[in-house]
Amino acid sequence: MGNTFKSSRLDLAVDTISRDDIEELIGWLREYPRLTMADETKRFEQAWSDWLGVRYSVMCNSGSSANLLMCAALDRAPSAKVRKIVVPATGWATTLMPAIQLGWQPLMCESDSRTYGMDLARLEELLKRERPEAVMLVQVLGVPNDMTRILALQRQYGFDLVEDCCASHGSTHQGRKVGTFGLMSSFSFYYGHHMSTVEGGVVCTNEEDVYHRLLMLRSHGWLKDLPPAKAKVVMDKYGVDGFHAPFTFTLSGYNLRPTDINARLGLIQLRRLDDTIRIRVANHLAYQAALRGCVDFAECIPGDTISSISFCAVAKSTAERRRVVEALERNTIDTRIFTAGNLGRHPFWIDRYGEFRAPVADRLYECGFFLPNNQSLGVKDVGMVCDVVKKALQ
Ligand SMILES: Cc1ncc(COP(=O)(O)O)c(C=O)c1O
Repeated sequence: MGNTFKSSRLDLAVDTISRDDIEELIGWLREYPRLTMADETKRFEQAWSDWLGVRYSVMCNSGSSANLLMCAALDRAPSAKVRKIVVPATGWATTLMPAIQLGWQPLMCESDSRTYGMDLARLEELLKRERPEAVMLVQVLGVPNDMTRILALQRQYGFDLVEDCCASHGSTHQGRKVGTFGLMSSFSFYYGHHMSTVEGGVVCTNEEDVYHRLLMLRSHGWLKDLPPAKAKVVMDKYGVDGFHAPFTFTLSGYNLRPTDINARLGLIQLRRLDDTIRIRVANHLAYQAALRGCVDFAECIPGDTISSISFCAVAKSTAERRRVVEALERNTIDTRIFTAGNLGRHPFWIDRYGEFRAPVADRLYECGFFLPNNQSLGVKDVGMVCDVVKKALQ
């Protein structure tokens, strides 16, 4: 993989930024380009939109910031305001935290026993009973949710759908990339993800109005980043002249901007993304084949593909997990808990809402663990890891 940095042990995450990438970056820096957000960011956003198959992308400084931007864009929508949002028990802390920070009521949803995404029977119960205005789902570790059924629920109950795809670049549902189903979707470009811009993230959408809100929210809420025709609408409405317009603050915003250095790295990394995805998909399938019947793991809907960031395995018991984890550690194979397990069992949630207990999310919390999947590994490495797991289970 293009002179990628290698580690001495089987790490969960390895650097996707190679020596060649750094050399190329240094060559660009020698031209003394502008480093703050400018043309490279625009170029990356266009390239990312083309790769994903959406109309608009807004790059920002992390996947967590992308999630915050998505929620803020819903919150500042001129039409219906969000009061309640369904959030998954399995995902990442900063998938849910923006909802709390915005003062919404988050409704936690049990995980699906097949995909580890949202349990759709529980989701439907929440939709019927609570009538939430939005649903934030996570494509958990690259395993797509059953998006066909979720879109059917959306048609029936009506809600804004946002997708956290921060760890699922290139996964597909029925041939369509995740991140193209929701009103907005987020991706992370942090170290160890499918590609990296050091820190970085992006929000994607097909809606022009949403795109314009995201542009303002990313940069202080100001008008400066809007296309002139769109800015003029605001200027006319509020009687703002051309001198004041760039520094007129329209929405209550943030500064979540990337730099052009991140964007330049993004352009370099994007060239290799499809190769990386192919490796991750093949490794994931190899894990499934080798470990079937030994441990549990997520399965996708037939016809979907899993481009995973790590392989998530679930032992029969916590004691069995301990045995496997100890064996992995003895063999210098990196492991950790399954993402955050059940987010409803973490202090930030318990202190506000009380503990959330649900059988599937609890099982992931108590028995789940990660096995390495990244672009520096091949199916032979996967076989070696699986041998260690299987031996520990004997
Ligand atoms: C599902 C999910 N959402 C959000 C994030 C946050 O991304 P970042 O680390 O870029 O803030 C992660 C990080 O791994 C993630 O896995």
